[in-house]
This record gives sequence, structure tokens and C-alpha cells, in this order.
Amino acid sequence: MTAIPADLIEKLRTAHRVAVLTGAGISAESGVPTFRDAQTGLWANYRPEDLATPQAFQANPKLVWEWYAWRRERVAAAQPNPGHHALVTLEQRIPGLTLITQNVDGLHRRAGSRRVLELHGNLFGNKCFRCGKPAETWEDTGEMPPKSNCCRSWLRPDVVWFGEMLPETALRQADASARECEVFLSIGTSTVVYPAAELPFTALRSGAIVVEINPQPTPFSPQANFVLPGPAGVVLPALLAALD
Ligand code: OAD
Repeated sequence: MTAIPADLIEKLRTAHRVAVLTGAGISAESGVPTFRDAQTGLWANYRPEDLATPQAFQANPKLVWEWYAWRRERVAAAQPNPGHHALVTLEQRIPGLTLITQNVDGLHRRAGSRRVLELHGNLFGNKCFRCGKPAETWEDTGEMPPKSNCCRSWLRPDVVWFGEMLPETALRQADASARECEVFLSIGTSTVVYPAAELPFTALRSGAIVVEINPQPTPFSPQANFVLPGPAGVVLPALLAALD
């Protein structure tokens, strides 16, 4: 079992405002590949950076749409893991907990987390490529991608692509949570993609205790107050058990 420092447990026991940032690492134990993992099988020849961009979509909308359909299928078959479930329990114990995720897989909500800020959108949402209006329904003509009802343009996944702005409200709320929290947990993120990667630094500058949970070191590790080296699916249940 992972040893959790007593002073961290004491701090978490008394904290009213906790902010949690998760990255692809928390879904790794659900079988969802992280961004820094090599792509597998059919998509082995492509890098996310080559597909998750407006330019890639404009150049080959069918290819990008099919890549997202493949990712949706993989994620739909995945299940939340003990790391996701531990964060649901932590949210029940600490009403002032805000969960900020860079993940688009929707696994936190499927696990039961309620206050989730999805900084990079959600795989299962679609919107009009031209005007950005969310699309719940569309005419199934067999075209790939389907056409939007509003502009007869293409539908695209409602996720943040490289070079695109993050949803303003979610980012503002995430920044406020990082500034106001007493404890900040940074879980399963390589802490290299901004502006999300700024959040643990913001929390540190605002006087929070910052904990990093990751089997590997990251650029933030040297500044973390606590580094719990290990998989989220093991460390988070151990953290919860130590709180009891
Ligand atoms: P990365 O793939 O960059 O990093 C995954 C992190 O998870 C690494 O630091 C791993 O060491 C760690 N990790 C792996 N297995 C883990 C486990 N079982 N438990 C805990 N940690 C584990 O993913 P992100 O940091 O989420 O952006 O990437 C950030 C953003 O880069 C993504 O949201 C995406 C990508 O470009 C957009 O799509 C806009």
C-alpha cells in the first residue's frame, strides 16, 4: 500500500477547498491510451498532433472524424477505474472540491463526479465546424462527417484542438479554484500543455499545498510539496483509506 505522509493527511482532513487537476494518466488504468503513449493499430502512423487540429480537419474531415469515432468506441468500452471512483468519494467528503480535467473521455462523469470542469471538451459532444453551435441531432445521410443542420457545414467533435482556445468559462473557474484552494492534487498529467499546466503553479503561488500523483516525474515535480509516485488507481484509494 502506498505510504501517505501524515502531514498531508492532516491537511486534507481539515481542508474545505480542494482543487484536483487530472490528465490522461488517470484513465490509463481504464485502458485509454495517454497522449504520450504510441498510437496503436490502425492509427499507429498518426500522431494526435497531426489529427487534432482545425487544419487537419479542413484537409481531411473524413479521416479526422473516423479517428474520433475510433476513440469514442474505445472510450465507450472503457470503464472508470479505482482512481476515478476515489475522486467521487473525495468529492462527497469535501463539498468544496472542484475537479478540473484535461481529459475528453467523460470517465469522471461516468464514475459519478458532479462538479467537473472539462477544459478540453468532451469526445461525445459535436458542434458545427463553421459556427461552433453544439449539435445534438443531424440528418444521417451516410456522409462522413455528417452535415450540421444550422450551416450545412461539417460536424466536428466538441473538443479543443491544438492551437484552439479553451472554453472561457471552464478555464476561468479552473483558475479561480487553483487560486482559492487549500490543497491542489495534480494527477496523471505530464504538465507540459498550457494553459492547463499553469494551474499547479498558480495553486503553489497562491499558498496551497500541491500534491503530484504520477508514476513518472514531470516538470512540476521539483516544486510539488508532496510527490506520490505511483498509478492513480493505487495511490488515490490509499489516500482515501488514510483519511478514514
Ligand atoms: P500525457 O499523455 O501528456 O501525460 C500522461 C501522464 O500520465 C504522464 O505524466 C504519465 O507519467 C502519467 N501516467 C501514466 N499512467 C498513469 C497512471 N496509471 N496513473 C497516474 N499517472 C499516470 O497526458 P496529459 O498530461 O493529459 O490536449 O496531456 C495534456 C494534453 O496534451 C491533453 O489533454 C491533450 C494533449 O495534447 C488536447 O487534446 C488539447
